[in-house]
Amino acid sequence: MTIVIGFPDSKSLARKIAKRIKAKYSELELKKFPDNETYLRFKIDVKGKDLIFVQSLNNPNEKIINLIFANETARSLGAKKVILVAPYLAYMRQDKRFKPGECISSNILRKLLRFDKIITIDPHLHRHKSLSHVLNNALMLSSNKLIADYIKKNLKSSLIIGPDTESYQWAEEIAKHVKSHAIILKKVRFTSKNVKIKVKNNISLSDRDVVVIDDIISTGHTMLETVKQVKKHEARNIYCIAVHGLDIENAYDKLKKLGVKKIITTNTIAGKNSLIDVSNIIANELK
Ligand code: R5P
Repeated sequence: MTIVIGFPDSKSLARKIAKRIKAKYSELELKKFPDNETYLRFKIDVKGKDLIFVQSLNNPNEKIINLIFANETARSLGAKKVILVAPYLAYMRQDKRFKPGECISSNILRKLLRFDKIITIDPHLHRHKSLSHVLNNALMLSSNKLIADYIKKNLKSSLIIGPDTESYQWAEEIAKHVKSHAIILKKVRFTSKNVKIKVKNNISLSDRDVVVIDDIISTGHTMLETVKQVKKHEARNIYCIAVHGLDIENAYDKLKKLGVKKIITTNTIAGKNSLIDVSNIIANELK
């Protein structure tokens, strides 16, 4: 028997997945002791069961502790298998020592997340060539096709813009699906809130509708700088699409203020703009 367990912030996606794979759905009893330690309890008997934990790792620290506790508890209670579905994986951008003495956070996840299988969506793989360098038993799914379908259905024929070289893995494939083409810009990041984007001068965006595509909107600075440049090149309607919408420090409001027509993300992280549902691709994999 399979039971899907919805963790904080990911319950709605977990319920959808459970429905699609016709599995039982449950949640944990999770609370804090007065000294802030975590209390965790399974509300169902997990002995002999296959468990699927659904937990996106935005605001990750407490969620990682919950996952470790829940995984160990499930095993000690005799669960047969524990699978983690983490549609958004945290710490993937700290994938090298940028300064001496720094922690390479992405590599440490391997030791912390010991599951029979881990399923994620479009992890930020930059310097790591594959997800297997970061995690054991991990499988990555892509939302490119879902994003392309959304563009085809809802936005007019648009040019796809990727803000930096890493974004080609999303922008180029999505452009192929929507039968458009992708322009990949150059980004230099000085700090987490200071980036510069360069557009080649000979690019003509005049009167074009453009969709800027990236994997993550965090503070929004990458998107904001890109939108500023695209506007300078006289694009008409500008849309921003990301797989994972973290929306830190009112990023979406700042983009709206700059004149972005619509901001759309998938529901790997639930939010008001998470209009593209990934439950189907996850369920297909779990089936
Ligand atoms: C990094 O290269 C990623 O692909 C995103 O461009 C980045 O994480 C977005 O972060 P922010 O919204 O803070 O600029």
